[in-house]
Amino acid sequence: MLQLETAGYKTLDHLRSRGEFPPKWTEIDELEQLTNHFMERFRAERFVASQELGPGFLIPELIDRAVRSDETEHMDDESHPGDDRLEWVRALDRMNLMTNSYAHQCNRLMPVIAGLTRPDRPLGILELAAGSGGLAFALAERSRQAGIDVRITASDIVPEMISEGNRLAAERNLPVKFRELNAFSLDGLEPGMADLVVISQSLHHFTPGQIALMIAQAQRHGASAFVGIDGFRSLLLTGGVPLVASLQGILPFTLDGLTSARKFYSAIELGIIAAIATGKERHRVECSWPLSILHVPLNEAASGEKG
Ligand SMILES: C[S@@+](CC[C@H](N)C(=O)[O-])C[C@H]1O[C@@H](n2cnc3c(N)ncnc32)[C@H](O)[C@@H]1O
Repeated sequence: MLQLETAGYKTLDHLRSRGEFPPKWTEIDELEQLTNHFMERFRAERFVASQELGPGFLIPELIDRAVRSDETEHMDDESHPGDDRLEWVRALDRMNLMTNSYAHQCNRLMPVIAGLTRPDRPLGILELAAGSGGLAFALAERSRQAGIDVRITASDIVPEMISEGNRLAAERNLPVKFRELNAFSLDGLEPGMADLVVISQSLHHFTPGQIALMIAQAQRHGASAFVGIDGFRSLLLTGGVPLVASLQGILPFTLDGLTSARKFYSAIELGIIAAIATGKERHRVECSWPLSILHVPLNEAASGEKG
């Protein structure tokens, strides 16, 4: 219900026919603000389109507006100690294992990885906002089983998550290195570390402009593709995510589940961000329930996908 496709595509077509989409940028410093402004404008024009389409479209638009939030998750709140934030990210890791989410995400990512492998060196995979690193570990295991040579870097901004991740990687003997990295700056990355940039269940933690920056930075650092995986924006998940999160009896984590689901991006919004970041519309956004998957090829070699 909250994808608002008819009014969304109608709005986007208007903007495209007026030559206003995707808006152009030259300096990376402009990208964040430009994307945030464009998204505000898109949502305002979509509201008008919904009014024109009639009550069947206006009511979902009004529900979307009531649901949407720009609250910060406890997990991102710097006033909480890093150890608490690590505890909540561990709770998310348990939830991902319980719902089989890592296997699901690996099923979607392995064909992309197979399509990007290189004969001369291991494929560099960079995970942004990796939290506990559960996906990075699952990808390392699956790549090993598939005989694909990968070098995985799992990054996050919370130092406690980095030390815990490196401890677990050593314990499990998996080719995953954790390092502190701001997801939208990527400063200090060495060449070959980011052939594929992945971000999972975190896109909603960032503004549209910050996500656009991530994609543009990934391209600047030589990545062949960017894949963003996040919850599918829907009324069902707005209730479902906090409900499943509540099973662990950790109040801040349950509340984060609710905030997150209220912030999930629609498929059209993810596509808008990718189009602004790259200046092209070669991305695709799929629903692999209960996830949205944004796949952005960043150079010609990235179009091949096996499996
Ligand atoms: C919802 S958790 C997702 C963790 C992991 N990807 C998963 O699926 O379990 C969001 C993560 O984003 C991280 N984060 C927030 N702001 C960040 C930033 N600017 N740069 C890097 N990571 C950030 C948080 O520390 C947290 O680990």
